[in-house]
Order: sequence, then structure tokens, then C-alpha cells
Amino acid sequence: MALEHPVEATTSVWQATCDTPSFGPLTQDMETDVCIVGAGLVGLTAALRLVRAGRRVVVLDSQQPGRGNTGRTTAHLASAIDDRFSELARVHGLDAARLAWESHATAIDCIEAIARDENIDCDFQRCDGYLWLAPDQDPDILREELETVHAFGWHGVQAMDEDPVFRRPCLRFPDQAQFHPLKYLAGLCAALKRSGAAIFGDTRVEDVAGGDVVVTTTERGRRVRSKAAIVATCSPICDRFAIHSKQAPYTTYAIGLRIPAGVVPTGLYWDTIDPYHYVRLQPGSDGKGDVLIVGGEDHKTGQADDGERRFEALEAWTRARVPAAQERLYRWSGQVFETLDGLAHIGPDPAGAANVYIATGDSGMGMTHSTIAAMMLCSQICDGESEWSHLYDPRRKPLKAGGEFLRENANVAAQYADWLRPGEIRSIDEVAPGTGAILRSGLSRVAVYRDESGEIHACSAACTHLLGSVSWNHLEKTWDCPCHGSRFDRLGEVIAGPARSGLRVLDPRTLR
Ligand SMILES: Cc1cc2nc3c(=O)[nH]c(=O)nc-3n(C[C@H](O)[C@H](O)[C@H](O)COP(=O)(O)OP(=O)(O)OC[C@H]3O[C@@H](n4cnc5c(N)ncnc54)[C@H](O)[C@@H]3O)c2cc1C
Ligand code: FES
Repeated sequence: MALEHPVEATTSVWQATCDTPSFGPLTQDMETDVCIVGAGLVGLTAALRLVRAGRRVVVLDSQQPGRGNTGRTTAHLASAIDDRFSELARVHGLDAARLAWESHATAIDCIEAIARDENIDCDFQRCDGYLWLAPDQDPDILREELETVHAFGWHGVQAMDEDPVFRRPCLRFPDQAQFHPLKYLAGLCAALKRSGAAIFGDTRVEDVAGGDVVVTTTERGRRVRSKAAIVATCSPICDRFAIHSKQAPYTTYAIGLRIPAGVVPTGLYWDTIDPYHYVRLQPGSDGKGDVLIVGGEDHKTGQADDGERRFEALEAWTRARVPAAQERLYRWSGQVFETLDGLAHIGPDPAGAANVYIATGDSGMGMTHSTIAAMMLCSQICDGESEWSHLYDPRRKPLKAGGEFLRENANVAAQYADWLRPGEIRSIDEVAPGTGAILRSGLSRVAVYRDESGEIHACSAACTHLLGSVSWNHLEKTWDCPCHGSRFDRLGEVIAGPARSGLRVLDPRTLR
């Protein structure tokens, strides 16, 4: 069923400044060469590469193009790995670090070429990137990173005494870029329409069954039969466990502040703190200056509910460093999926479904990882191979990142202790209009939401993926699962996987 109420409460600068096209639902069974589930940057870029390679393509999305994390990104197009090349070289060796750089650089070239060839006016702009040393941090961080990139052959990276904005020691990375992700996505939709690809919105997929013929089934029971399928749902809905034990969901926050044109030089800026701050400029569309976009304050999804405080912290951090920043225009949050080694998981479904492919684990570099995924999956489907298959293989087990694996999985296991805890409220009368809270009812936990008119809505708090206990997100008015990042809207409908179906709706009268 299409959602008739807003899914998330905040709006990104991109959503506020670009209308993306809408598509009607799939109403009949279809046959095609490749079925793509998810119309974000992965799904639509892969669709374009495939139609250009002569394949028939059907794209299905539970919402509409760009309503997922692609509409909530900050759209740094970086070939400088944010988890750092020195760490990647420690885990996988110097050759892998070089390949990772080359793949991200090729992805930026690919976006530039698509924008040019398809005449997409998406504010694409080349710029430098600056990794700057936060106060009190060890200068060896920059030294090791510089040594690593020079060792594998990226000689254009330089150490500088000061970056142009924060006036801190930094590394300057040439040939980075930025763009408006939704203008780009709208352009991809137009190009796909011209080439005959079929896009369907408001079409939730519940199952992707691999085989010689892959069968993709929607919640309304429609089927798409294809030779291959790409599950491009950011967090895969086709895999119950394997991939979700190797990547972790983080919620990250962004704000957009007005700033007079020319004060901050165009560039990508990020610091050495963990979680790091990431900063860029977007040309204003109203002639009143530019927008300074600042992100950070990440936490594990569903494990903190203090979004307002995090926005305030981001704003205070910015004003202390960029006094020219003026009023706040936008604020929003979204999810990133961190892998053990900072590389995405791209390739055949690790659960073994034949002819089913996944692209996930953006690691905060989802714009370039999405484009790498589109290039790789098109080659794997059309030619059976791709040059980066080994690097991004979803089945890899980076042994030198074993400590991280144990830490993340212990964190997930600890979340199940929520089932033993008391509820946050003792009676539904305690829930204020427009908010939600967890109520204990016997052995079960109930997710209770009171809408603005005072009506109570109740669902089981058991996440439909692997029974984590969801928690209320006051900022976005969603129910978020602390285990693997599934998200549900205020009435319990699923917004983001790995869950494929909504929370079980309960009769609120049974709670009185
Ligand atoms: C605040 C923030 C800042 C970021 N900054 C950067 C950055 O500066 N640079 C960078 O490279 N990356 C950044 N990222 C990461 C990047 O935005 C994402 O990795 C990227 O957009 C993911 O694209 P996607 O196509 O995989 O997923 P999405 O854009 O989330 O698309 C997935 C689609 O699948 C659909 N879907 C889900 N389930 C189903 C289902 N069951 N059936 C049918 N459809 C379904 C959804 O509706 C959605 O449209 C940032 C992310 C956030 C949140
Ligand atoms: S997302 Fe896995 S249990 Fe909820």
C-alpha cells in the first residue's frame, strides 16, 4: 500500500530544491532481462548502464526515486577514502588501497560523463578535498596517510600547513567533485524513460527468488521474471543474516546554513575525528548566497534518540569555526552502513541465490560506491566478470578487521536485552500527541504512537527482520531497529530494510 503520510519528518536541501519524477505502481506481471529493486543511485545508475548495454530493465521502488538515502546524502564525490587508505592498506595491502582509489576516481569520471552525455544539469563541479587535522590529534595521522597514498602512486596529494577554511594542517586531494544528487537522479530517470526502461513506484518487493529465472514478487502479488536481479535497497532485503553481520547501520545528521557567496571556497572538507565532520558548499538557488552543508554526529541507528541535541552540536561546531555562517535553512538525517574494512559489498548475493546481485555497505561513500556498483554489476551480468570483483566481493572476510567484527556483533547481541527491560511508559495515556513510546504488555513490547488528533496506533515492537526491539526516533517520527537498521514509519509500515514487511499492527483497545 502506498504511504499516504509523510515518511520522515525532516527535509534535505536536495528534497527542498528539486522535484523528482513520480511513477505509478506495477499492476501486471512482467518479463525482462534485469529486474532492479530500489530506485536510488545504485538502482538507477545500474539501470542506465544496462540499457546502454542493450538489456531490457524493470526498476521497482517501494516509494519513489530518491526518497531513500540518495535524497538525504551530502553528495561529496570523493576518491579519498574516508576510512583512510592507511587503514585499508593495513587490512588488505597496498595494491588493494590503489585499486580502491582507482575505482572511486573512475566512479567520479563516470558521473561526470553521464551528466555530460545525458545533458543533466546537476551542478557537477570538480574541486579539491581536504582532510584536516582536528586540534589535539596526532599529526602522524596525516603523515601515515600521505606516505600510503604516495606509496601506491597518488602523487598529486600534498601536505599543506593550512586548509582554506579551518586553517588547520591538512592533506589536499585533487580531482574530487560535488553535485546535486536529486537533479542527477531526475536526469537518470529522464534518460531511462527515453531508452524504454520501465520504472514503477509505490511497489514494495517482498521476495527475490534466485534461479535460472529470477522471480521478484511484490507485496501485491505481482511477479517480474528476469534473467538477473539487482537488489539495490541500500540494505539488502534478500539476505537475512550473512551480509548484516558484516556491516553496521549508523544514523548521521546534516544541516545547511546560508553563507554569503565567496566566503568559503568550493571544496570537500572533513576532519580526523571519529565520527568525523564533513563540510561542503552548495550554490544557492535563490540568489541570496550559498548553502554551507555540514554533517556528522553519527551514532548506531536506534541506539540514541537525541537528534535535536545533535543538530545543535553541529550548528555550534560550525559557528565556532565559520563565523560568517548565517541562518540555518535545512536539517535532516539518514543512514549509512559501515563495513569492517570501509569497502562496499558489491556482487553476487552471498546467501547463494543464483543470478541475484547486491550492492550495499556504502561506508559513507555511497555516491561513488553506488556508481562503482553500477559499473561492476553491469559487467558481471553482461560479461560474467568485473575488474574490481575481488576487492568488493560480498563474501570476503577481512581477517585483520576481526576485532571490529566481534565488537559490532557483540553490540547487536546486546540490543536483544531490550526484551527484558521495562517499557518507557506504564500507560498509553503518557504518550503525547505526535510522539511514540514503548509500552510493556505482559511478555511483549508494544510500539505506541499517538497522532496529532490524539488517536492511538499500536504495533508489536518486534522488528520483522530478526526480532530486534524497535525504538522511537523523536526527530524523524519513525521506529528504528538498533540491530541492523530497519526503519518503520510512525504507523509501523516498513521504510527501510533489511525488514521486508511492516510491524504487526495491534488493536490499541487491548492495551487499556
Ligand atoms: C546524511 C548523509 C550524508 C551522506 N553523505 C555522503 C557523501 O557525502 N558522499 C557519499 O558518497 N555518500 C554519502 N552518503 C551515503 C549515500 O547517500 C548513500 O550510500 C547512497 O545514497 C545509497 O544509495 P542507494 O541507491 O544504495 O540507496 P537508497 O538511495 O537508499 O535507495 C534505495 C531505494 O530502495 C527502495 N526500497 C527499499 N526497500 C524496498 C523494497 N522492499 N522494495 C522496493 N524498493 C525498496 C527505497 O525506497 C529507496 O528508494 C550519505 C548518507 C547520508 C544519510
Ligand atoms: S533490522 Fe535486524 S532485527 Fe531489526
